[in-house]
Amino acid sequence: MPPPRIAALGHHQPEHVMTNDDLTALVDTTDEWIRKRTGIATRRLALRESVTDLAEQAAAKALARSGLAPDEVDMVVVATCSAIDRCPSIAAQVAGRLHIPAAAAFDVNNGCAGFSTALATVDHAIRAGAARGALVIGAEKMSDITDWTDRSTCVLLGDGAGAAVVTGSDGRDGIGPVVWGSDPTRGHAVRISGDWHPLFRQEGREVFRWATTELVPLARKTCECAGVSPTDLGAVVTHQANLRIIDALVDRLGITDAVVARDVVDSGNTSAASIPLALSKLVELGAVPTGSPVLLFSFGGGLSWAGQVVMCP
Ligand code: ACO
Repeated sequence: MPPPRIAALGHHQPEHVMTNDDLTALVDTTDEWIRKRTGIATRRLALRESVTDLAEQAAAKALARSGLAPDEVDMVVVATCSAIDRCPSIAAQVAGRLHIPAAAAFDVNNGCAGFSTALATVDHAIRAGAARGALVIGAEKMSDITDWTDRSTCVLLGDGAGAAVVTGSDGRDGIGPVVWGSDPTRGHAVRISGDWHPLFRQEGREVFRWATTELVPLARKTCECAGVSPTDLGAVVTHQANLRIIDALVDRLGITDAVVARDVVDSGNTSAASIPLALSKLVELGAVPTGSPVLLFSFGGGLSWAGQVVMCP
């Protein structure tokens, strides 16, 4: 099989914008604290749409841009940790709505590392000859699992979706080797749990310390596995959780010329949606040259991490 590549991207965000000032009506916080500690200015909230609606909108755009017919899509994989229904999967619902017949359709829950995990799963399936084309979607309605009385988490989260169509390429390898792993001893640090209404909780300082220590060597390893130097990257699209984490990583990798995704400022933390959402926006703006290497890397509940270098569509 020809090596896979991302052929097209799409994204969707709900219309409703929630500002930091809006949050001051709910919890004891300030615009200044949120901007200074996280970089976040606004986030989008789905007032009427479900997580399946968000996924469908992003996937429909990516599919239309790819030129693939629905029957050329053999896999639909949705990365999400905010699905309310366990069955049918969001992936199967999206496949039905987009008239994709008989695709392997399933959800992947690897917290915020879900999109790169799903992308690697699809990459491996295409290389193994188990699929020709695939839809990989990151979709989250974090507002469904937000504790709106907890100021340490409710100011961080947002809703949205991003999608990629992956197909066999006409030559160059378009998706680099995945670097993934987990540290179960830190499972307590990010949780979505509860009997009837699971809510997002995290030990923010602990995750922050982990990210500012571990991400640099993991990002270097990801570049090394793909055969590129961090300074050769055309873009860096890492998990959109905190602007301070993103800027520290870029600084410590010595990256000065690459486009750096900072969508967290406008969208907040959309968990598994954050990478495809940010990447799709940059590509739509024409900010990243076609064919240039882009580092994707994310981390979250588990603690888990996953990333790869991809060729920009
Ligand atoms: N407004 C005002 N004050 C607040 C708020 C708020 N919204 N939230 C917390 N505070 C207070 C705390 O109570 C604390 O007060 P104290 O010093 O009197 O105890 C003070 O601010 C400092 O709190 P910290 O938690 O130490 O603040 P920190 O600078 O660490 O920022 C944050 C918190 C933004 C969560 C940061 O730790 C972080 O980004 N961590 C990493 C998160 C991450 O990357 N998660 C990724 C995986 S999970 C996912 O993506 C879905």
